[in-house]
Amino acid sequence: MKKKPVIAIDGYSSTGKSSISKEIARRLGLVHIDTGALYRGITLFALRCALDQSGKIDCSMLEKHLPELELKFHLEHGELVLYLAKENITEPIRSQQVSENVSFIAKQSFVRDYLLEYQREMAKKGGVIMDGRDIGTTVLPEADYKFFLSASVQERSRRRHLELQSMGIDLPLEEVERNLTSRDAIDSSREASPLRQAPDAVLIDNTKLTKEETIEKILSFIS
Ligand code: DC
Repeated sequence: MKKKPVIAIDGYSSTGKSSISKEIARRLGLVHIDTGALYRGITLFALRCALDQSGKIDCSMLEKHLPELELKFHLEHGELVLYLAKENITEPIRSQQVSENVSFIAKQSFVRDYLLEYQREMAKKGGVIMDGRDIGTTVLPEADYKFFLSASVQERSRRRHLELQSMGIDLPLEEVERNLTSRDAIDSSREASPLRQAPDAVLIDNTKLTKEETIEKILSFIS
């Protein structure tokens, strides 16, 4: 039987990485691993147990509490669902507070080191599509296929604005754009495993593509 592939999808915020990866996983019978959810899960944990007196995340406190962290994906009806101990954290990790703090958490080397082995372990048997920022460069440099998604800031802000509105959150478009630009700047400029296109990744600018067109384009490279 042909071995199922390992696919790495990286790129900027709001390029549709996760929803596109999820759909490709469904069509190819792969497991979709959203690594951003793991960074969000640690951020949620930090907001609950590692705040200093002024209400800011204290990284040394977080590092001390890390051995107590029980963050794990469980396979439910063919999809991975993220749990913090016994709590399904699918919704709380999408809160505005988590979104505002996650880039700060994701740039800490001790956090990235902590997640590295877990991510690699999940891909070991093949049959996965993993999306994030450093999958093709650091987590799975040997992936069978690598893609890097990009789109203009205006288009990504527009998509994120719509997504937030559908969640009942009505922020001005300018604020959404500021948040997005600042997250990308932190993700791209950090020392530990920055957001970068792997030299062997296929670049797909989907500013003018629909979700379906992006999926078709990616599938056209996969044999
Ligand atoms: O994809 P997302 O917006 O849920 O990602 C949340 C944050 O985590 C974002 O700031 C980038 C960071 N991240 C990362 O640094 N490395 C990954 N592999 C995945 C996400």
